[in-house]
Amino acid sequence: MRHHFLLLGACGWVLLVLIFVSRFFSFRAVDDYPERTGQSWTVAGSKTRPAPVTIPEKGAARPSRQVSPCEKQNKKEKHSSGLQATKTLLFQPSADPPEAAWEQVWERRDELLSAACRNASLSGLTHVPVTKFVLDRIFVCDKHKLLFCQTPKVGNTQWKKVFIVLNGAFTTVEEIPENLVHDHEKNGLPRLSSFTPHEITLRLNTYFKFFIVRDPFERLISAFKDKFVKNPRFEPWYKHDIAPAIIRKYRRSHRDSDSERAGSGLHFEDFVRYLGDAEGRRHLDQKFGESVIHWATYAELCAPCEIKYDVVGHHETLERDAQHILRAAGIGGLVSYPAIPPGITRYNRSKVEHYFSGISQRDVRRLYARYQGDFHMFGYSSPDFLLQ
Ligand SMILES: *[C@@H]1O[C@H](CO)[C@@H](O)[C@H](O)[C@H]1NC(C)=O
Ligand SMILES: *[C@@H]1O[C@H](CO)[C@@H](O)[C@H](O)[C@H]1NC(C)=O
Repeated sequence: MRHHFLLLGACGWVLLVLIFVSRFFSFRAVDDYPERTGQSWTVAGSKTRPAPVTIPEKGAARPSRQVSPCEKQNKKEKHSSGLQATKTLLFQPSADPPEAAWEQVWERRDELLSAACRNASLSGLTHVPVTKFVLDRIFVCDKHKLLFCQTPKVGNTQWKKVFIVLNGAFTTVEEIPENLVHDHEKNGLPRLSSFTPHEITLRLNTYFKFFIVRDPFERLISAFKDKFVKNPRFEPWYKHDIAPAIIRKYRRSHRDSDSERAGSGLHFEDFVRYLGDAEGRRHLDQKFGESVIHWATYAELCAPCEIKYDVVGHHETLERDAQHILRAAGIGGLVSYPAIPPGITRYNRSKVEHYFSGISQRDVRRLYARYQGDFHMFGYSSPDFLLQ
């Protein structure tokens, strides 16, 4: 509840500034996308040129395949209704508000995202060139003209199942064998990167596009637990390669060599220090290759300031958002999102406090500095309770 309250406060403030600023900028912003014919997808939208973000490619090679830009990003910019939004400023979502209220929540999220993308002081964290790394994250359903960007640790398996059903291989999500979902040879879900530049541009411009986010720190905890604590047998490299590499570089006390054994002892503290070290970790990330998708920012994964997504759903309100996505994508009658166990998607602040309890303020600040673009873009309140 407090979370919502803080969020609301933040939204209100941002919108007021935005409304003021939009008198000068709102129509400019639409045309800020240049008609580029060059090599890179680096996109304008902020006045300062965004610092190029280096995203590691699998095998450490630099992206070799450049794609022509998606110039005509859906120009139906939603924030043109900026002034209308004042009406929604005082709206606070209750446990189960009416449909119209949810429409306002979704609209307000769109506006927040647009505002964050235009915020020059965040541009190094929000603007990301649309490289092959991003195109690899986006799954395609041509039959229903859908694009879904994968954000690991945010319920993506279920969405992949939805896509598999939509492609016609199964009639309901329950029938799909679990091991098929992640088998990218057999699941029949093409990635956007497998198309030609022209086909990519066409899909980006005309398909319904969405992805899901959750509280950025809770997502990192989930990645840590999943990859370094539970550590599935079929992904041994987290334990045997990645954890030891992080420990070697980031563990304070190297005398603690017991826990270095087989990497089973990666501490959350080591992980946080690695994540917060924007410069220093670049070299490691290149070695880690595709594994970094589990802790890469939403901006790095999906380039939401460059690609105009129709909906960015929130894990915390997934039950509503999933319905909304299916309906908005025009597939509500064709497939249902799998049942969500009660409480599982709720933000758990005590869990976050628990994990961060041994982490120094300096490390929390560094971590936040690196992930704050995600907090701002999707309206998550900054974790001030960890900095007191
Ligand atoms: C832009 O981002 C900074 C954080 O870097 C924040 O303090 C500021 O409020 C944001 N500005 C707007 C207009 O949202
Ligand atoms: C939140 O997390 C804590 C600590 O991990 C756990 O004990 C508790 O059951 C969780 N609460 C809910 C509502 O899931």
